[in-house]
Amino acid sequence: MDSLIEAMKRYLATNFSFYMKLHQFHWNVEGPNFPQYHEFFEKLYEEIWEANDSIAEHIRAINGYAPASYKDFKELTMIDDQTELKVDAAQMMNILYSDNQTVMEAIKIAYKAAEFNNEIGLSNFLQDRMDIHKKHGWMIRSTAKI
Ligand SMILES: [Fe+2]
Repeated sequence: MDSLIEAMKRYLATNFSFYMKLHQFHWNVEGPNFPQYHEFFEKLYEEIWEANDSIAEHIRAINGYAPASYKDFKELTMIDDQTELKVDAAQMMNILYSDNQTVMEAIKIAYKAAEFNNEIGLSNFLQDRMDIHKKHGWMIRSTAKI
């Protein structure tokens, strides 16, 4: 069970990092398509933000404690911080596409641990999250024509 809790903590930190980057891009994107990008990023960060709470509560349900400090998130996340603030919109889309793939990797690792521990409900939650991220990937890919 410890490895499942650890995998879920990594997933929470990775999801939170993805959320933070989306919101940062929502604020800082520039260019002629600003309204579309601004709104697109907002839709995505809202969905990812909601998921943070569900992931954390699933950690509590398996008797782990949900991390929520910058220090813990920095140690646990699989996504790099976005410290460069002036980024071309097309480059933002490439970064988000890649980060979305990374979130899916975090989900897969947690899913394997959930299956191993026979945590059926959690497996189901992770399957649903995977489906949602597949859709996010499609949206990002189609918007950016990656
Ligand atoms: Fe806003």
